[in-house]
Amino acid sequence: MTPLDRFLKLCCTEIERRAQLAQTERVALLGGAAAFRRALDVAAPGPQAARCVLTTVPVATQLQHLLPTSIGQAAVAAAGEIPWIPSPRVDDGGANVALGIVNDARVLGPLTCGLILVAPGAAYPEHAHPPQEIYLPISGRGSWRYGGSGEYRSLHDDSLVYNHPRDLHGTIAGDEPLLALYILWA
Ligand SMILES: [Fe+2]
Repeated sequence: MTPLDRFLKLCCTEIERRAQLAQTERVALLGGAAAFRRALDVAAPGPQAARCVLTTVPVATQLQHLLPTSIGQAAVAAAGEIPWIPSPRVDDGGANVALGIVNDARVLGPLTCGLILVAPGAAYPEHAHPPQEIYLPISGRGSWRYGGSGEYRSLHDDSLVYNHPRDLHGTIAGDEPLLALYILWA
């Protein structure tokens, strides 16, 4: 098991734990957790499993400033196994926002999985898409528009973000870099 496999399994266990605690959208969150678990159980190395382009994305330096939690440190350990790119939603060359494309490192069947990394004070722009989505916040206090709400809210420590199909959603990082894992499934 590589650091990336360990990190993804930690994320899955954390999504399962938080889904069990959820007061709203619990059925959908448990469904997403189960889809993630199924995908990880059969995951194979992806087309760019050994390729590391971390240093070509400026905001990747923010990974050094993640909170020293076990899952945050597991993310840092795994970061070199994931291809990182500037976000196509932000025209900044990766100065403030980057995506870690987990699907390029692991074949996960129909599941889409990745990381968003947002510099302090920067925004990951509002967007919408047909698949439903879970975000697992890993490090950094941000505010989130999600779940069909028009407001930005901060989250409790054990929260997950759930977006129904086509919900408009986005996030703004606070004083610390924000790292979150996303999964999209049908
Ligand atoms: Fe999204």
